[in-house]
Amino acid sequence: MKKVLITGAAGFLGSHLCDRFINEGYSVIGMDNFITGDEKNLVHLENHPNFQFINHDVTEFVSIEGDLDYILHFASPASPIDYLKIPIQTLKVGSLGTHNLLGLAKAKGARILIASTSEVYGDPLVHPQTEDYYGNVNTIGPRGVYDEAKRFQESITMAYHRFHGLETRIVRIFNTYGPRMRLNDGRVIPAFMGQALRGEDLTIFGDGSQTRSFCYVDDQVEGIYRLLLSDYAEPVNIGNPHEITIKEFAEEIIKLTGTTQKVIYQDLPINDPLQRQPDISLAKKLLGWVPKVDRSEGMKITFDYFKSLTEEELYKSEHKDFKSHIKV
Ligand SMILES: NC(=O)c1ccc[n+]([C@@H]2O[C@H](COP(=O)([O-])OP(=O)(O)OC[C@H]3O[C@@H](n4cnc5c(N)ncnc54)[C@H](O)[C@@H]3O)[C@@H](O)[C@H]2O)c1
Repeated sequence: MKKVLITGAAGFLGSHLCDRFINEGYSVIGMDNFITGDEKNLVHLENHPNFQFINHDVTEFVSIEGDLDYILHFASPASPIDYLKIPIQTLKVGSLGTHNLLGLAKAKGARILIASTSEVYGDPLVHPQTEDYYGNVNTIGPRGVYDEAKRFQESITMAYHRFHGLETRIVRIFNTYGPRMRLNDGRVIPAFMGQALRGEDLTIFGDGSQTRSFCYVDDQVEGIYRLLLSDYAEPVNIGNPHEITIKEFAEEIIKLTGTTQKVIYQDLPINDPLQRQPDISLAKKLLGWVPKVDRSEGMKITFDYFKSLTEEELYKSEHKDFKSHIKV
């Protein structure tokens, strides 16, 4: 039985990856320190014979007993609200955390896949974004803590690949959504759905003409799974190229949720990208991968998930007490 370590296992994507690898017959070790994750996301795997969980901060030395075939490094705050509140932890998990996991991969002879992001393209001047675009990132802007951590993560991963011959994979993930996202993490889908469920107006930042493209989590996981098993070491975009303006998207949410509230407008945050759309030609060619889940179908599943939350979860304004985790 192949063994895989998944960091960030208690988070949104990490928990779905744990499910996928368990279903594929792997032995899975999930690792997380719960800084933005939630035990609830893994509760269904608690007694699974092929699942083990380790509560650990990956910015500290990481050690695993026995063999390891694969590592998927997904630990990192991922939403702007999170990384603006815990900027130093964000920089540390992308740099020190990645270094620790590359070292572990080298020691075990394991293949490692790291979760990079479309944020490496910053506020892109090229549209849609292909993997050979270098990006337009403000290093010292508020989002720089995340963007630069991820850019460093890619650099050190390629250095381990080139210098040590380590088997590495880099996925550049574009906006992904689905069940187990946090309602209050500031990302647009949970934000709109939470507002609709609480009977609040839907908030658009800016004039709503900025575009986004949203990939359903099952499609994302399929792309990541195929990339891990491929033989391609350079970055690959995985995301859904179907682009929509935030204003149009708000209208879709109003229709889906049946809310009678209106849309209100607030100032656009600094360095918020105006356009984001992956060019997925490389993923198509290399992995035979294209997203399959239609936005209306994925949004319905996601809304059903948010509807199943308790009143307490729905009205909690702050999901996380970051203070208990801060030791920089
Ligand atoms: N969801 C997306 O649309 C998206 C887009 C681009 C990139 N990504 C990347 O995918 C990964 C997962 O994102 P997500 O949306 O699931 O976020 P998430 O916040 O739901 O999950 C991240 C997990 O990492 C854990 N974590 C953070 N720092 C840690 C540390 N030092 N040690 C151990 N665990 C730690 C958190 O507790 C959390 O469970 C991140 O690396 C993120 O940058 C996600």
